[in-house]
Amino acid sequence: MTEPIISANNLDLFYGDFQALHDIHLDFNPNQISALIGPSGCGKSTFLRCLNRMNDMIEGVTITGTVKFHDQNIYAPQTNLVNLRKEIGMVFQQPNPFPFSVYDNITYGLRIAGVKDKQKLDETVERSLKQAAVWDEVKDHLYDNALSFSGGQQQRICIARVLAVSPAVILMDEPTSALDPISSANIENTLLELKKNYTIIIVTHNLQQASRISDKTAFFMEGTVIEYDDTTKMFVNPDKKQTEDYVSGRFG
Ligand SMILES: Nc1ncnc2c1ncn2[C@@H]1O[C@H](COP(=O)(O)OP(=O)(O)OP(=O)(O)O)[C@@H](O)[C@H]1O
Ligand SMILES: [Mg+2]
Repeated sequence: MTEPIISANNLDLFYGDFQALHDIHLDFNPNQISALIGPSGCGKSTFLRCLNRMNDMIEGVTITGTVKFHDQNIYAPQTNLVNLRKEIGMVFQQPNPFPFSVYDNITYGLRIAGVKDKQKLDETVERSLKQAAVWDEVKDHLYDNALSFSGGQQQRICIARVLAVSPAVILMDEPTSALDPISSANIENTLLELKKNYTIIIVTHNLQQASRISDKTAFFMEGTVIEYDDTTKMFVNPDKKQTEDYVSGRFG
């Protein structure tokens, strides 16, 4: 059996008095795409942010339980958050490139880490943009402002920016919901390529997208995981009535 790369256990999260996650147990396998689905407000983004401690920045949050990355509990006090977020990168719903050149966006993480070697930076820019399937579109414009590209191109530039620091896991929160269908299809194809080398956990409201690209699907409702299984089973023959109702479009 494959060892999970990330494993959440007994995970509870409170925003002040409000409990947003209830006893979550989920394992994610390497080199797979896992989709998190469920109605608005069910805790998908909250859970995703737990996986690289992005909730730490929100005031009044209490988290109990564990999230292991390989064998290490990321909530242990000795965790280095900069290293953690390099290993577990994140792409958001709205493309959010920095307002400077494509080249400087992609090399940002490496330069923060002290890399100055021009050849290494150049190679990383080319590799990351190629992996994010946007190289052909931007290669002659590397010094143009990243904000001058289309939304779909900007999102792939943001994916390249995450890939530049060679993470193990990429968390994505509705990465295509602000994009047109063609740009979304480009990103979906990119993700299918990327899973050969990376582990991807993606929140999506687009059930067709989840069924097209993911290996596993977790269905959340009101802060709990109702069902988590192979995507084919979740969409064709789920165990729980709530899952069946949701994936067949009866609510949500
Ligand atoms: N910073 C916060 N402070 C207080 N409550 C919050 C905060 N962020 C989220 N919540 C609450 O936690 C619950 C889960 O929210 P979350 O954003 O994780 O849901 P979601 O499944 O991502 O929804 P959507 O599909 O609309 O993005 C909701 O009830 C929400 O109102
Ligand atoms: Mg959300």
